[in-house]
Amino acid sequence: MILLRMNIMILGSGGREHALAWKISKSKLCDNLYIAPGNGGTSLEGENISIDINNFKEIKNHVLIKNIDLVIVGPEEPLVRGIVDYFKHDNELKNIKIFGPGRNGAKLEGSKDFSKEFMFRNNIPCGKSKTFNKDNLENGYKFLEKIKPPYVLKADGLAAGKGVLILDDLEEAKKELSKMILDEKFGDASKNVLVEEYLDGIEVSVFAITDGNKYLILPEAKDYKRIGEKDTGPNTGGMGAVSPVNFADEEFMKKVEDQVIKRTVNGIQKENLDYKGFIFAGLMNVKGNPYVIEYNVRMGDPETQVVIPRIKNDLLDIINNCLENNLEKLKLDFDERYATTVILAADGYPNNYNKGDKINNLSEENNTKIFHAGTKRLDNEILSNGGRVLACTGFGKQINEALSNSYNMAKKISWKNKYFRNDIGKDLI
Ligand code: AMP
Ligand code: GLY
Repeated sequence: MILLRMNIMILGSGGREHALAWKISKSKLCDNLYIAPGNGGTSLEGENISIDINNFKEIKNHVLIKNIDLVIVGPEEPLVRGIVDYFKHDNELKNIKIFGPGRNGAKLEGSKDFSKEFMFRNNIPCGKSKTFNKDNLENGYKFLEKIKPPYVLKADGLAAGKGVLILDDLEEAKKELSKMILDEKFGDASKNVLVEEYLDGIEVSVFAITDGNKYLILPEAKDYKRIGEKDTGPNTGGMGAVSPVNFADEEFMKKVEDQVIKRTVNGIQKENLDYKGFIFAGLMNVKGNPYVIEYNVRMGDPETQVVIPRIKNDLLDIINNCLENNLEKLKLDFDERYATTVILAADGYPNNYNKGDKINNLSEENNTKIFHAGTKRLDNEILSNGGRVLACTGFGKQINEALSNSYNMAKKISWKNKYFRNDIGKDLI
């Protein structure tokens, strides 16, 4: 059999994209691999191309120049802005494969109001909520008066993970609702704001790959979103992750599949959403039952850095079969070991932090893998270049062993302004 090898372009520059690039570079179906714009680590897996991922015209030029066969979209923004539709409607691009949902499918992440209505219509378990804007703000205050604290306020649109406020005090909740809507605290994203029932439980991220009809469930993960230990301080993109998650046992995952994943994919089909890609359900486990907090139309970061290394199958083969509606041909095979990742951030993140610090001791030990995020390569040096800088992934038969591999590396790697949480995975031991 002749293997048709493909030229691949991955869009994005985070730890997620390094993990995807690392996995894809090992595929027997991969010919040339490009990462746009990539980071200091992705340039070890393929060639970085310096472009703006929201400039579709520029992406098109490079796709044609480099003879790309398949584009894999890492982050949500180009998806929500309609990159998949752009490809499908362009004469020179329409035969080039692109992996990710179309604009209407990406609304599952791009509009929390849309995704909530989708959940209600499709009987997917989630917290009750109502959406308010400047025309019915008074009703929003009345609604807050009727419900019990804590009050959950969510900006409808994309707000880089910062658009959710959880408040204990009614007057403060009203004030914040007004700031979000009238003062556009999160810009256009908070013109519409959801007031949502508070869900008391423990979070887990569940991932699937779907062609809008069939699906395959990937390993689940737990993310640690707050900057400070014991889940304190402001939210970040995520400071660490663990996979598998012990409380997501067979009984819980059966409920997730039946009540969340199947109903989501059926809804996508019934409502004619254009969807071939990853889907990520952020869930709250409330007394053993899953509730959807949010959908993301992409993989998670840093969850990808523990989920992808546990998939033994060829990822390009999975993506290809998804794009060709052949998912039923595949059976996924997972590494039974634990994977854990600890994010090394620049001190000060998620607020102000330094860039351009030289990073030392980047060599990997056994059962570890370093994924780069905010780094850049300058001559033969690696410099910090963002808030979340590196992800130290460790593997082990027991969670303790994986964590100690992650932490050994986290301590060894050094630069002037390194910060990491010391308690990743501790709650799961
Ligand atoms: P989101 O951007 O929707 O993922 O929300 C950010 C974080 O806020 C989530 O990871 C949860 O920790 C928290 N959160 C969101 N919605 C709720 C809710 N209804 N009840 C409790 N916590 C929530
Ligand atoms: N780690 C959470 C996210 O990627 O949205």
